[in-house]
Amino acid sequence: MCGIFGCVLKNGDAAPIIHAALKRLEYRGYDSVGEATIHEGRLLTKKGQGKIDEVHETYNLDALPGQIGIGHTRWATHGAPSRVNAHPHTDCSGKIAVVHNGIIENFSELKKELEERGHTFQSKTDTEIIPHIIEEELERNNTLVEAVHSAVERLNGSYAIAVISVKEPGKIVCVRKESPLVIGIAEDEVYCASDIPAFLPLTNNAVIVENGELVVLSDKGYEIRKIVDKSSVTRKPEVIDWDPAMAEKQGYPHFMLKEIHEQPFCIRNTLRLQEQYLELMTTFLDRAGEVFLVACGTSYHACLAASYMFSKLAMLATHPIIASEFVEQHGRAVNIDSVVLAVSQSGETADTLDAVECARQRAATVLGLTNIIGSTLTRVARAYVCQQSHPEIGVAATKTFTSQLSVLSQLALRLAKKRGKVSHVEIEQLEEKLEQIPDIVEGLIETQEEKIKQLAKKYRDKQCFFFLGRGVSSASALEGRLKLLEIAYAPALAYPAGESKHGPIGLIEPGFPVIFVCPSDGTRKTILGNIMEMKARGASIIAVVEEGDEGIKSLADDYLEIPPGLPEILSPIPYVIPLQLFAYYMAIERGCDPDQPRNLAKSVTVK
Ligand code: G6P
Repeated sequence: MCGIFGCVLKNGDAAPIIHAALKRLEYRGYDSVGEATIHEGRLLTKKGQGKIDEVHETYNLDALPGQIGIGHTRWATHGAPSRVNAHPHTDCSGKIAVVHNGIIENFSELKKELEERGHTFQSKTDTEIIPHIIEEELERNNTLVEAVHSAVERLNGSYAIAVISVKEPGKIVCVRKESPLVIGIAEDEVYCASDIPAFLPLTNNAVIVENGELVVLSDKGYEIRKIVDKSSVTRKPEVIDWDPAMAEKQGYPHFMLKEIHEQPFCIRNTLRLQEQYLELMTTFLDRAGEVFLVACGTSYHACLAASYMFSKLAMLATHPIIASEFVEQHGRAVNIDSVVLAVSQSGETADTLDAVECARQRAATVLGLTNIIGSTLTRVARAYVCQQSHPEIGVAATKTFTSQLSVLSQLALRLAKKRGKVSHVEIEQLEEKLEQIPDIVEGLIETQEEKIKQLAKKYRDKQCFFFLGRGVSSASALEGRLKLLEIAYAPALAYPAGESKHGPIGLIEPGFPVIFVCPSDGTRKTILGNIMEMKARGASIIAVVEEGDEGIKSLADDYLEIPPGLPEILSPIPYVIPLQLFAYYMAIERGCDPDQPRNLAKSVTVK
C-alpha cells in the first residue's frame, strides 16, 4: 500500500529524515520510492524502482538539500512499477510536487482535458493529474492552499496527498479523503504521514486528520480546515503510547485482525474499479466456448463461489479448478475457444502460473484477477483486473478473499447485463445491494465480534469441526474450514451439506461442533433438514444465520447473525466474515500466532 511522508524542519535537511521515515513504512509493501525537497527556490526530486536500500545505493536518497520535503513508497495501482511511475509527480514547469495514496476514479477524463489544454504527462499513474491541476490553479493567482483546495474538489475517489511548491516554499499542503493521514508534532519539526510508525521515533504527539480535511504544515506548526466550507478546525495532538510493532498494526494485536477490519474499506475500493477493465474481461467471458476458473487456496474458494454467481446470474457454466490439477484434468481439452480466468492474490503462485502457461500454449485466452500489479500474472494475461485490496501481510488471506468475491460478482453482474439474462430492475437491485456491502460488513464486525470471542472460548478445546453449507455457501464453508485449519491448527472438514450424509456424518458423536453457513436463500429448506440430521446425533450446532431466522436459531446451540435482505450471490462476502473472526479468536485461545502459521507461506512459488 502506498505510504506518504512529509516534513517541515527549522534546522537541517529533510532528505535523511524522509529516507528513514520511508524505511519505517516499508512494512506496508511497495515497489518503488521517491522524494522531493525545495531548496533555494528550486524543486529537487529523486526516485527509483525497487527497494529503498537499492534506490538509495544508486541515487543516495540523503543527498538532497532543503528543510522541507515529501516522500513516497509506491505500491502500483495504475501503471506498472517503474521509475517513471514512482512518486513524487510534478507539473509541466517542475515547480510543484505531489505524493498520493489512494485511487483517483475520474483521472482518465481529467487527464484528457488537461492534455487538450497542452499539459504533457510522463507516467501512467492517476496521481500525475494532480500537480497539473494545481499548476493551472496557481496560474490563476491562487495561493497554494486555494489551488490544492480547488484541485481536490475535482477529484473523485480516495486520496491522501501531500503537495509542495516553490511558489510557497515553506509549506506542505495535505488533504485526506478516505486514505489515512496523520500529523506528527515535534518541538522544531512537523510531519505528515500515512501512518504513525513513520514518525514514531521522532515524536509521539499525533493529530489524526479526518476525512475531508486539508492541513497546512509550516514552521509555525499545523492548521486544519474543512474542505466543504473552509472552516478551521481545532484539534490538539494526542499522545500515542504504542510501541513500534503495535504501531505498524495500527494498534491491533495482529495483522490478521487488522486486515479483517479493513474489509469494508477494501470492498469499497473494488467498487471503484475502472469500468473499461471489467468490460474487457466481460467481453472475453461472453465469447468463450468454455470458462475455467483456476486458483489455489483461498483464491480457489473465490472461484468456487464465482461459479455459482456466473451460472445463476449470467447463465454461464464455468469450471472452478484447483490450479495444481488443471494440467492433468483439463490440459489436453483446453483450446482456442477456452478462457482461463486465473485468480491469484499474489499473481505469483507457481501452480496457477503453470496452469496459465499450459492454457497459453494451447492458444486459450488467459484472464487474470490479482492484487499485485506487475506480478507475473499481469504480464502473461491477455487482460487482467486488479482487486485493489492493498498488501496483505497476514499469511491467511482475509481481505483479499472478500475483495476477490466483490470483483467476481461485479463481473457476473456485467455479464448478466450484457447477455440480457436478468431484468434491469433486478440488476439495479443487485448493484444497490453491492454498494451497501461495505456498510453491512462494518456493522456485522461491530455487532458480532464480542460474541465470536466468547464462542472461541467455549469451543477452544474441541478436537475437530465440520463446516457445512449449500449452494454458494458451500464455498464459504470451505473457506471457514481453511481459516480454522491453517491458523488454529484445528482439524476440520467442510462439505456441501448434502454430501455430509455420504460418509462424514459417521464421525458425529455428542458435542461434535458443526458450523452451518445458512443464509435464508433457496437452500434454507434443505439445509434445515441437514441441521436436524446432525442434531439428532448429538452434534453442537453453530449457525451463521440471517437475523430474524427464528427457525434455525431455535435449533442451534449458538448462532451468529447477518443482516437480512442480502441477495444469494452476494452472501459469501458477509457470511465468511464471522468465520474469519472465529478462526482468529480460536488461534488466540489455542495460543497460536495467527500471523505466522507454521509451515505456510504467503506466496507459494514452488510446485
Ligand atoms: C498460499 C497462501 C494462501 C493463498 C494461496 C493462493 O497457500 O497461504 O493464503 O490463498 O497461497 O495464493 P494466491 O496468491 O495465488 O491467491
